[in-house]
Amino acid sequence: MKNSFIKDIAFYVPEKILTNDDLSTMMDTSDEWIKTRTGIHKRHSTGDSNMGPADLAVLASSKLLKKLNMDKSEIDFVVFATSTPDYYVPGSGALFQEKMGLENIGVLDIRQGCSGFTYGLSVADKFIKTETYKNILVIGSEVQTTQLDYDNDGRGTAVLFGDGAAACLLTSTNDDRGILSAHLHSDGRYIDDLSSSHPSSKYKDIITKENIKDRKHHIHMNGREVFKHAVRRFKEVILEGLDYNNLSVDDVDMVIPHQANYRISQTVQKQLDIDQDKVFSNIHNYGNTTAASIGIALSEALEQNKINKGDIVVLASFGAGFQWGSVVIKW
Ligand code: UT7
Repeated sequence: MKNSFIKDIAFYVPEKILTNDDLSTMMDTSDEWIKTRTGIHKRHSTGDSNMGPADLAVLASSKLLKKLNMDKSEIDFVVFATSTPDYYVPGSGALFQEKMGLENIGVLDIRQGCSGFTYGLSVADKFIKTETYKNILVIGSEVQTTQLDYDNDGRGTAVLFGDGAAACLLTSTNDDRGILSAHLHSDGRYIDDLSSSHPSSKYKDIITKENIKDRKHHIHMNGREVFKHAVRRFKEVILEGLDYNNLSVDDVDMVIPHQANYRISQTVQKQLDIDQDKVFSNIHNYGNTTAASIGIALSEALEQNKINKGDIVVLASFGAGFQWGSVVIKW
């Protein structure tokens, strides 16, 4: 059986920056509150550019292909993870394909919120291990800032999220390296603790004055509940992945957690009793970019030479659903 490994990864974030001070002019919040509670200093935003996740993904993927000196015709399949799709139907994968000029290859959309990247990698890994495809583009891309409630009612959520995209090339190899395992979970009992319920096909009238007044089209989060579950599930799913591979925390060279809150990453680091410099964080610069966050963090960890060949790298996610997962990689 073949192995699958991440040949390279690149990311793109829009130029416009939203600082905590910018947000403080829109709602009752402060730089100090945001930094202390989340670790976030700024986030990027598509602003008024009308760019969607497919556009950001094209920019990230073009960077990636340039780095790899690879022609787009060599890509066999695309897995596109986003929770903020350009269209309600079809998914952003088809739009990305058209914008990228990819000839009739298959595209698969993943709607797993903050766990989109781990779920996406897991699916792509199976396609490679079963020798269905050789080169798969796995993308996490989000435009959150156009949909947030930048008002006092939404301040608990709006300050967290940012826009960005990451694209990696998962490639087939005979070498003893690459994705060792993926463990995926969900618990739908907590859907309403982190969700955006409208538009919805359940109701005949979705765009009503009442729904807009009730801000149903914005994302809603029960922050404390999400935090509580996140710290538990991150630890659990990382240990599950390590255990499956007969590895211990001491074997781990780098953990790349979904960037949800610096305090969550710190808690997980302490719970695992692992060195602080082995849990990567860049949330201060980007906020929570949902499906893109692990890819952006992995990309920066590589740029900073924090990951070397042969290293054990663990990607871990938790988010809406709740859905969570881990991917253990021998780099
Ligand atoms: O990626 C998907 C997964 N998402 C997450 O993992 C997020 C998990 N949750 C969190 O990160 C944290 O719960 C938050 C950062 C969202 C909130 O932090 P917290 O320490 O749990 O604060 P809180 O919700 O308990 O609110 C504390 C206080 C409240 O005021 P009172 O009731 O104590 O008077 C809030 O109204 O802070 C207030 N507050 C704010 N104040 C200033 C909430 N949001 C803000 C804000 N600025 N933006």
